[in-house]
Amino acid sequence: MNDSINLKKYIREIPDFPKPGILFRDITPLLAEPTVFQEVINRLTAYYQDKKITAVLAAEARGFIFAAPLALALRARFIPIRKPGKLPFETKAFHYELEYGTDSLEMHTDSIHSDDRVLIVDDLLATGGTISACIELANHSQAEVVSCAFLIELSFLKGREKMNGCDVFSLIQYDTE
Ligand code: PRP
Ligand code: MG
Repeated sequence: MNDSINLKKYIREIPDFPKPGILFRDITPLLAEPTVFQEVINRLTAYYQDKKITAVLAAEARGFIFAAPLALALRARFIPIRKPGKLPFETKAFHYELEYGTDSLEMHTDSIHSDDRVLIVDDLLATGGTISACIELANHSQAEVVSCAFLIELSFLKGREKMNGCDVFSLIQYDTE
């Protein structure tokens, strides 16, 4: 690991995206620096390597970016959670509320086993809606959700409070918008 790398420096702030009043945290500058992207994976690997993780779950699209290399580093199975209609085998769906309307995510029913130790990964914890849906999908298979990992946590949105006490590890926090 290289503690001298300040990850926040590689997050670009875009005002009024995707709509007026929203300050978007853009991870693409970080992804474009291989040493910094690698540092993210190294820090997550260091935190989880002794936690006997057997499966890493992530929701498309941005969750995949970090979950796939982390799963390989932890020698765990990578399990994709996808938007409706994308997974070809038998699926379990979870529907959840958005600010306006509802959304849903799907997972293959044979992807997690009851004895799995699951880590769920996403790029960002905002309101917690997406991660809660992923936790519900993992719980359905009776597996233990050991922790949820994020590159960025928007602490001021209090997403953690929706996560039923699940362990949370985030590398970058913003306390205010
Ligand atoms: C973004 C982000 C997280 C989620 C966080 O995904 O990648 O998954 O929002 O927000 P929440 O905590 O309020 O649920 P988005 O739905 O924009 O889709 P993408 O990953 O496909 O870009
Ligand atoms: Mg996402």
